[in-house]
Amino acid sequence: MYAMNDTSFSKIIKKEKLMLPPLAGFTDYPFRCILSMFDPPFVCTEMVNAKAVINQNEKTMEMIQKEPGNHLKGVQLIGNNPDNMQEAAIILEKNGFDYIDINMGCTVKKVISKGQGAALMKQEDLAVRIVEQICSIISIPVTVKMRSGFSENNKNAVSLARKLEKAGVSAITVHGRSGERKFGIHVDYDIIKKVSYSVDIPVIANGGVSKTNACEILKKTNAFGVMPGRNLIGDPWIFPQIKKTLSYEAFQYPSLNEKKSIIQKHLRFQCDFYGERNGVSRFRTILPKYFRYCHNLNALKDDVRVMCSYFDVLNILDRIIIDDEMCAYQ
Ligand SMILES: Cc1cc2nc3c(=O)[nH]c(=O)nc-3n(C[C@H](O)[C@H](O)[C@H](O)COP(=O)(O)O)c2cc1C
Repeated sequence: MYAMNDTSFSKIIKKEKLMLPPLAGFTDYPFRCILSMFDPPFVCTEMVNAKAVINQNEKTMEMIQKEPGNHLKGVQLIGNNPDNMQEAAIILEKNGFDYIDINMGCTVKKVISKGQGAALMKQEDLAVRIVEQICSIISIPVTVKMRSGFSENNKNAVSLARKLEKAGVSAITVHGRSGERKFGIHVDYDIIKKVSYSVDIPVIANGGVSKTNACEILKKTNAFGVMPGRNLIGDPWIFPQIKKTLSYEAFQYPSLNEKKSIIQKHLRFQCDFYGERNGVSRFRTILPKYFRYCHNLNALKDDVRVMCSYFDVLNILDRIIIDDEMCAYQ
């Protein structure tokens, strides 16, 4: 879709106003193949460890294989050793990725305890060194995804964003919850606004973005774009819908049959990638997300829990019908 030489990365973000999130366990290769069918501007892998990239770990390299489509393809790196992060970035650039995102927001215990992810927000100098080292050697854009701060009493997103801009990042996504708040209800859009007024590079607002509030969040935060998170799981239509909403156009939600056809493709990609057993097992978490608003969701979830084969999934899909404009499980 875009040649990076022709248009700068920032300009694309400003034009598209939308980026898709890295979601460990969800934005895997099969789902990225689904997302690519909706003509997205950017798609990012789930986070991968810098050392695993350096060691060309087979599973990791499979995880980040490029999905079809002309959109910009990013890889999210996690780590805290500047040399390793730099080496991994060089490999990814050589592998033809379009941008690299650095994870400064993950709050998983195993990650934090190693000083990685959101813990980097507590070590601004180290975070800056990582970015400087990567930007000094690769020519593709480097972005950062951070939180409002590591904790509620240390929301340093503004100061860190300023330093990272100087260090060379092309865009920053701010998840408006601190590490302490993890995924709580409250999202601090004010701090995203402060970051967006403090730097010249594009800021992307993240946290609680839905198909109905994207415009409002853009206005509230002065951000250049929004990034939905959990609402993307089981709803790849969220991003064409947000795109339409942002340009004040009507969006035609897919019919139940269109939806089922995408789900069947997703299932097939899962089974091709993970094998039938593992693919179906993973689909147990995914399928109910496609039918969040199903009338008898609990009955659906009960059956989903015990599905074992590709055909079990198809049988369940057959039992989802339209009932009074909402779908129901019969
Ligand atoms: C299951 C799951 C996996 C996630 N994986 C990643 C990840 O790999 N990298 C990352 O930066 N953020 C990750 N996140 C955070 C999301 O990208 C996003 O910042 C967060 O969910 C907030 O947005 P929301 O309130 O719209 O869900 C993950 C979140 C969830 C729920």
